[in-house]
Amino acid sequence: MLFGGFALIKNGEEEIQMKNLSIMSHRTPWSLVASLSLGLCLLGSPALSHSADFSKETQACLTCHDKAGMQMKLSGEQPLPLQISTEAYAASMHKETECADCHDSIDAATHGKGASDVKNRRSFAMTMGEACVTCHKKKVAEYADSVHAAMIKDGSTKAPLCSDCHNPHTVRSVKAATPMAATPCAKCHVDIFNAYSKDVHGTLRAAKDEGAPLCANCHQAHNVKAASLGSGVKDACLTCHKDALALHKVWLPNAERHFEAISCPACHNPDAQRRVNLRLYDDVSHQQMSEKTGVPQFDQRTDASDVNHLGLNERALFSLLKEFNQGGSNAKTVLHGRLEVMSGVQAHQISVKSRAIKDCNFCHKEGAAPFQSVTLTMAGADGRPLRHGVQKDVLSSLQSIDSVRGFYAIGSTRIKLLDILLALVFFGALSVPIVHMTVKRLFKRMRERLEAERAAAQTPSTPSASPSKRPINDDAKQ
Ligand code: HEC
Ligand code: HEC
Ligand code: HEC
Ligand code: HEC
Ligand code: HEC
Ligand code: HEC
Ligand code: HEC
Ligand code: HEC
Ligand code: HEC
Repeated sequence: MLFGGFALIKNGEEEIQMKNLSIMSHRTPWSLVASLSLGLCLLGSPALSHSADFSKETQACLTCHDKAGMQMKLSGEQPLPLQISTEAYAASMHKETECADCHDSIDAATHGKGASDVKNRRSFAMTMGEACVTCHKKKVAEYADSVHAAMIKDGSTKAPLCSDCHNPHTVRSVKAATPMAATPCAKCHVDIFNAYSKDVHGTLRAAKDEGAPLCANCHQAHNVKAASLGSGVKDACLTCHKDALALHKVWLPNAERHFEAISCPACHNPDAQRRVNLRLYDDVSHQQMSEKTGVPQFDQRTDASDVNHLGLNERALFSLLKEFNQGGSNAKTVLHGRLEVMSGVQAHQISVKSRAIKDCNFCHKEGAAPFQSVTLTMAGADGRPLRHGVQKDVLSSLQSIDSVRGFYAIGSTRIKLLDILLALVFFGALSVPIVHMTVKRLFKRMRERLEAERAAAQTPSTPSASPSKRPINDDAKQ
């Protein structure tokens, strides 16, 4: 019941495709192992086995375990392969780690005699995962704060554990050049990986451009957060594309505001379908509202407000907000609009810049396509969005517009001015520099009017989310 909401998530856990873990066999650098042994034994022969580098205990484990086809039966699932390749282990980053450093609960008296208490792979991997913390405290702490770890805490059997991304017996340096497809993320997020590998960054990366991001460069490897939470992945984009804002400002008025209100892929994947995401925000803490573990409110409240599941209408949305505001605290729940792409796959089809959406009319006209689909979201306990459909007319309703603060409902009465203005632009009535000046001047006036209206509607203590921080002589700067 606690997780009932996840059924609504489009790209639900069920859709993740799992491939079998493939343990990659790497060739051992024989010469290196040999010369190490040589150094130790002075007169050692090059034919010396690399197991000479291991302790007696580790060697003992490997003597039994480096046997092809060795496996253990498990009831109700595939047998657990038990072979540990000495060669791969000797070439791994853990070559100096004892088997017993991680496998510390093996009892030599009973081990291997059919009395194993391992019931299934997952619970075994979960227990074994606890071994990493002794030596990798920082990574364990980062991971503990991730969406993946949160899902596991909630009982997910599909979210990754350390050993899903790193085979402890064969792990190589992260600096080693590996094919792009070897990124652990690809194993589970198959569709996203396939989309990514054909997009601008994936194509560059495949062509060995290490400057182009792989999954972990945009999402992090351990502290992975839900992608649409807060400002999304935007900050990661801007750490590489430092001059992006300046370059957009050249042609896009108030580019900061556009960057806030539109996710980058919504313009940079020209083929995407788009939707408006109305996100529940706490206007006091400026945090996205999230479900508290154990107290599912979102589904309960949205279902109650929209019994027939036709999508929330203006009235239902308004009363829903009121309900959230009755929390008793001084929290003020508002809606922040954001234009984004429909699916995870579409977020990874970034195109070359010449194909990006530049036409103002694409969004700024009555009935523009991106505004025909609307969804209401709140962050679930693990950060992933819980969704409920909203009727599109809500965007142009006067009642909700104060809640949809800072998000002009395109095509509504309020945006008419903009529509007219942009029509002028597109029928070539004005030359570009003049247009920019006019846009700014008109908008300044329009914004001031809106600000005044908003200020009047607000309680005096609420800090204004006003974007009007522009210097007075702004227009003169052109
Ligand atoms: C860095 C920690 C670590 C070290 C060192 C380590 N193991 Fe493991 N081992 C694990 C973890 C974690 C698992 C279970 C996770 C998994 O593979 O999914 C595991 C699983 C196994 C399994 C079950 C098969 C499998 O792959 O799941 C065998 C057998 C095994 N280890 C033997 C060894 C032997 C032999 C050594 C020493 C040569 C060794 N291990 C060293 C962490 C370690
Ligand atoms: C005498 C041979 C032998 C030696 C030595 C040995 N193992 Fe095993 N090991 C086995 C066999 C056989 C099984 C399968 C047990 C079963 O089917 O119940 C097994 C199972 C395992 C498993 C998976 C199931 C479980 O119960 O955990 C791990 C992990 C493992 N061994 C690790 C090790 C490590 C680490 C060492 C060294 C400290 C070691 N083994 C030494 C024979 C051996
Ligand atoms: C979802 C996949 C994933 C999971 C789960 C994961 N890692 Fe990683 N890890 C990666 C990737 C990808 C890299 C390399 C890229 C990077 O460092 O950002 C990496 C790098 C590392 C490194 C080397 C870091 C460095 O910068 O030198 C260590 C150590 C590590 N992981 C340990 C762990 C431990 C311990 C866990 C479990 C708490 C864990 N990882 C869980 C994907 C994962
Ligand atoms: C007894 C200590 C110890 C334990 C326990 C241990 N590791 Fe390591 N690990 C090391 C050492 C030593 C290295 C070598 C690289 C280094 O100095 O960081 C290493 C390296 C790594 C790397 C590669 C880092 C790189 O620089 O590319 C990964 C990934 C990794 N470990 C994952 C794990 C995972 C996952 C576990 C738990 C299953 C684990 N380790 C448990 C000691 C340990
Ligand atoms: C260039 C940066 C970038 C790279 C590289 C990247 N992503 Fe993303 N990812 C994004 C953006 C942007 C979003 C959408 C965020 C939003 O809603 O604002 C996203 C969303 C996601 C989501 C959530 C999808 C959903 O259903 O909402 C997942 C899962 C994901 N990425 C996994 C991956 C994996 C796996 C890879 C590697 C194959 C990867 N990403 C590579 C930027 C990136
Ligand atoms: C063992 C499988 C597995 C691996 C490996 C894995 N993931 Fe995930 N991940 C999941 C599952 C299952 C979910 C939840 C379903 C979903 O949202 O797609 C998830 C969710 C996510 C989300 C949140 C989706 C959202 O709605 O915002 C992001 C982001 C993400 N993963 C990124 C990554 C990245 C980056 C890597 C590699 C460093 C990675 N994953 C590796 C299984 C995996
Ligand atoms: C309103 C649509 C829109 C939004 C939102 C948008 N872009 Fe762009 N972007 C464009 C267009 C159009 C171009 C091509 C401009 C040109 O050719 O002059 C472009 C160009 C770029 C370029 C290439 C710059 C150059 O000239 O080399 C990068 C990088 C870029 N955008 C990144 C981003 C990032 C990162 C975000 C999100 C923070 C973002 N964009 C948001 C439309 C947009
Ligand atoms: C690890 C650094 C890195 C990150 C993070 C990153 N990019 Fe890029 N991106 C590059 C590189 C390198 C190129 C190719 C060179 C160039 O055009 O700047 C590129 C190219 C692009 C282009 C094509 C520009 C053109 O000339 O056609 C766009 C658009 C773009 N990135 C958008 C984004 C967006 C949106 C994000 C975040 C979702 C993002 N990038 C994240 C490094 C990065
Ligand atoms: C992909 C859709 C999209 C495109 C393309 C787009 N805009 Fe916008 N624009 C928006 C959205 C959404 C907002 C609402 C921001 C808000 O509510 O403050 C906005 C807001 C504005 C504003 C008001 C900003 C402010 O100061 O508050 C102006 C002016 C504007 N757009 C002009 C333009 C012009 C001129 C172009 C073409 C060069 C353009 N836009 C292209 C979606 C778009």
